[in-house]
Amino acid sequence: MEEPVFEAIVSRRSIREFTAQPVSSAQLQKIITAGIWAPSGLNNQPWRFVLIRDKDTAGQLAAQTRYGRIVTAAPALIAVYLDTEAMYDPVKDHQAAGACIQNMLLCITELGLGAVWLGQILQNKDRVGEILGLDSRYDLMALIAVGHPSHRNQRSRRRPLADFILKEIEGDEA
Ligand SMILES: Cc1cc2nc3c(=O)[nH]c(=O)nc-3n(C[C@H](O)[C@H](O)[C@H](O)COP(=O)(O)O)c2cc1C
Repeated sequence: MEEPVFEAIVSRRSIREFTAQPVSSAQLQKIITAGIWAPSGLNNQPWRFVLIRDKDTAGQLAAQTRYGRIVTAAPALIAVYLDTEAMYDPVKDHQAAGACIQNMLLCITELGLGAVWLGQILQNKDRVGEILGLDSRYDLMALIAVGHPSHRNQRSRRRPLADFILKEIEGDEA
């Protein structure tokens, strides 16, 4: 039985090295579409995006993170924001942003592209907002670096399932 969603989930890896091949506007629109179909509390859809394919802007963003090499190598960047005026509950809105970002990463995997979720840059989120011309209404959640992977040798590990399941409480029907 085909399980394309599960396959995308387990085969997705953080991609940090890209070829020079561009990411198209249509690909970015598809990725954002996947993002906005994430669930959100009260369906408030608090996410907002800045799409960047400009080398000069990417260079300025690169200077705001120790992962600048990845930022300059990526042909496209997606800055993911929460609109604080659309928010209703900080925990739930941040959870929605995470769901949105993961949806985009899975879509990127399905498109044959690669990406990495960059969070370290949040330490300079005020400066990032200035570079992108946004005011403090918008709160940076992540920068996603997107492109065509230059290789697929990435490995990642997860601890065994038993490490995470605190307990199983089974009824008679289990
Ligand atoms: C909230 C968050 C922040 C992250 N920030 C960075 C980052 O700043 N730089 C980076 O190279 N990777 C970053 N990552 C990617 C993780 O390092 C990566 O997901 C993890 O090592 C597991 O590898 P995998 O994605 O290939 O399974 C971040 C991931 C998350 C979820």
